Amino acid sequence: MLTVEEREEIEAKLADYPTTQAVAIEAILIIQRHQGWVSDEKLRDLSDFLRLSVANLDGVATFYNLIRRRPVGQHVALICDSVSCWIMGSERMRDHLCSRLGTPLGGTTSDGQFTLLPIVCLGACDHAPAMMIDGTLHEDLDEPKIDEILAHYT
Ligand code: FES
Repeated sequence: MLTVEEREEIEAKLADYPTTQAVAIEAILIIQRHQGWVSDEKLRDLSDFLRLSVANLDGVATFYNLIRRRPVGQHVALICDSVSCWIMGSERMRDHLCSRLGTPLGGTTSDGQFTLLPIVCLGACDHAPAMMIDGTLHEDLDEPKIDEILAHYT
């Protein structure tokens, strides 16, 4: 069931778009903002609400790599997995993050605090390697900087 808040936000967005298809991404992102991820049940509810097929919405949801179809931790760390960051040592940063968090890439920490995911270029190539946590970009990463960043979450 969509929550009252989700319905109200989606309805408000509908006024800005010519069709329900056009608002699909925004609607899915609204659900994700409230729930942390987009479950099959929420997608079915959205399908009823927008009168779009579940397959259609699932296609949208799985096409965009910022839309999450599985549960995630309280915080989501996205480590850049593209060429400029590779050159600048992102593999080492990824390994350090995995070690510090105690989870492999794609996993969630046992306390549910963090999910660590790869992402394509974050648009910060001139400050590689880069990662994003809950929408905040962190650039010019090295091990001490990662430790400092993670310290804010413990
Ligand atoms: Fe990592 Fe562009 S390649 S930010």
